[in-house]
Amino acid sequence: MAVALPVAAPVAWTRVGPLEDMVRPFVLASVFWGIVAFAAGTYIAWELAFPALNLDLPWTTFGRLRPLHTSAAIFAFGGNALIGTSLYVVQRTTKAPLFGGRTMASFIFWGYQIFIVMAAVGYVTGVTQGKEYAEPEWYADLWLAVIWIAYLIAFGGTIMRRKEPHIYVANWFYLAFIITIAMLHIVNNLAIPVSLTGPESYPVFAGVQSAMVQWWYGHNAVGFFLTAGFLGMMYYFIPKQAERPVYSYRLSIIHFWSLIFIYIWAGPHHLHYTALPDWAQVLGATFSIMLWMPSWGGMINGLMTLSGAWDKLRTDPVLRFMVVSVAFYGMATFEGPLMSIRQVNALSHYTDWTIGHVHSGALGWVAFITFGAIYHLFPRVYGRRDLYSSRFVEYHFWTATLGIVLYISSMWVSGIMQGLMWRAYDENGFLQYAFIETVEAMHPFYIIRALGGVLFLLGGLIMVYNLYRTAKGEKRAERALAETFAPQPAAAE
Ligand code: HEM
Ligand code: HEM
Repeated sequence: MAVALPVAAPVAWTRVGPLEDMVRPFVLASVFWGIVAFAAGTYIAWELAFPALNLDLPWTTFGRLRPLHTSAAIFAFGGNALIGTSLYVVQRTTKAPLFGGRTMASFIFWGYQIFIVMAAVGYVTGVTQGKEYAEPEWYADLWLAVIWIAYLIAFGGTIMRRKEPHIYVANWFYLAFIITIAMLHIVNNLAIPVSLTGPESYPVFAGVQSAMVQWWYGHNAVGFFLTAGFLGMMYYFIPKQAERPVYSYRLSIIHFWSLIFIYIWAGPHHLHYTALPDWAQVLGATFSIMLWMPSWGGMINGLMTLSGAWDKLRTDPVLRFMVVSVAFYGMATFEGPLMSIRQVNALSHYTDWTIGHVHSGALGWVAFITFGAIYHLFPRVYGRRDLYSSRFVEYHFWTATLGIVLYISSMWVSGIMQGLMWRAYDENGFLQYAFIETVEAMHPFYIIRALGGVLFLLGGLIMVYNLYRTAKGEKRAERALAETFAPQPAAAE
C-alpha cells in the first residue's frame, strides 16, 4: 500500500516563510559542527598514528579530544540535523505551524548550542563524568533535560494540532527518538552533585548496575539517536528527492514497531564476558540478532522506494547520497548482530573492528543521509531554485565515499589482526606477541584511516563551498549530469 507525501506548493521554491526561517539555523549549525567533528576526528586519527601530535598539553591529548569528536559528531552535527529536519518534516506533513512558534524554535536552537559549548569546554578542560557518550557533568545534563523537554513539547504539540488526520511515518520515528532520548538521558545521568558550586558529582548507580544502565543508554543512543531519528529523515527525504511514494507503508509500520520494541533490550551486548549475569548477556545477544530483521526490512523499504526511478541515481547525486546511506545502514546492521554473538565478540571487542563498525554506521549511514537531507533542504530554506552546483555534490560524494572505504577497510584489517595477535599462543603456551608488537602492526592502518579522514573532511569542505554559493543565489554554469549520460547521437558517416 503506497501513501503519497503531501506535494510541495510550487511557490515554496522561492518563498521563504516562518518554517524555513526556523529550520535554517539548525541546518547551518549542523554543517558547522560537522566540519568541527570531521576535523577533530581526523586530528585524533593522526594522533593515534603519530602520538607526538598530543603536543604534551593536557587540552590536546587524545583522551580529551576523543569525546570532543564523538559528541561533536553525534550530538552537534547529527543532533542539529535531527532537530532541524524533524521541525521541518512535522510542520510539512501535519500542515500545522510549530507549537510554540518561532520563540520556541529559537529557544530550542540557542539552548542546544549552549549545551554543546558547555560540553565541549568540559571535555577540553577535563571536566567529565567518564561515561561514554554521556560525558558532560550534572549542570550541563540538567540544562539539556530542559531543552529536550521543550523540544518534545514543541514536536508533540504540533502533532496534536495537526490538520491531517494521518500521522506520517517519519514523525513516528522522530517522536520515538525524542521520547526515548529524554528517558535515557535522565536515567543514565542521575547523579548527586558534590557541591552546588563545583562541577563534580557521584552517579546514583554503582558497580555492575552502573555499567548496565550506561550501556542501556549507550546502545539505545545508537538505536534511537543514530538510527530511529535518521530513519525519520530517510522516510521523508528519500521519497521527496526521488519523487516516489514510500515503497510499502505497511512495511514501514512493521519496521517501526519491531525496531523500537527490540532495540531497547540489546544493550548487554556491550558487556559480554563481564560481571553482568550470563542470562543478561545472552538476552542482549538474542535481541541483537533479532534486530537484523527490522533493520533490513527498513533498508529494503528505503531502497525499493526507488522502484521505477532507479535511473535518477545516474543524474541526481543528492539521491545517490541517500541511497548509498541506506546501503551502509544495511551493512552496519548486518555486522552489528554478528558482533553481538559472544564468540565473535571475544575477538572483536576492544579492537579496531568495533571502530570500523561504528564508522560504517556513522560515516556511511548517519553522515550520508544527513548530507542528502542538507542538500535537499538548503536551497529551500534560502528560497533558491537550485543548488549552486550538482557537480560539486558529485565531487563531494566520491571524495567522501573513498574516505569511508579507506577508513572502514583499514579498521577491519587492523581490528581482526589485532584480535588474532592478542590471542596467539606459542607451543609453550606463552603469548606469541608482546602488546607493543600489536601496536606496531597497526601503525600502517592508522595512517590509511587518517588519510580516509582527510578525504572525508575535504568532501565536507566542498559541501560548505557549494552551500555558500547557493546561499548567495549563484548557479554554476555546467553541463547537467542528465546530458552527460544521455545517449550520444551516432557520428555522421
Ligand atoms: C542491528 C543493529 C546493530 C547491532 C545489533 C549492533 C551491535 C553492536 C555490537 C555488538 C557492538 C560491539 C560492542 C562491544 O564489543 O563493545 C557495537 C558497537 C557499536 N555500534 Fe553497533 N550495532 C548495530 C547497528 C549500529 C549502527 C547503525 C550504528 C551507527 C550508526 C552503530 C554504532 C555503534 C557504536 C557507536 C558502537 C561502539 C560503542 C562503544 O563501545 O563505544 N551500531 N554495535
Ligand atoms: C572525518 C571523519 C572521521 C574521522 C577521521 C573519525 C575518526 C575517529 C577516531 C580516530 C576515533 C577514535 C578511535 C579509537 O579510539 O580507536 C573515533 C571514534 C568515534 N567516532 Fe569518529 N571519525 C569521523 C567521523 C565520525 C562521525 C561523522 C561520527 C558520528 C556520526 C563519528 C562517531 C564516532 C564514535 C561514536 C566514536 C567512538 C567509537 C567507540 O568508542 O567505539 N565519527 N573517530
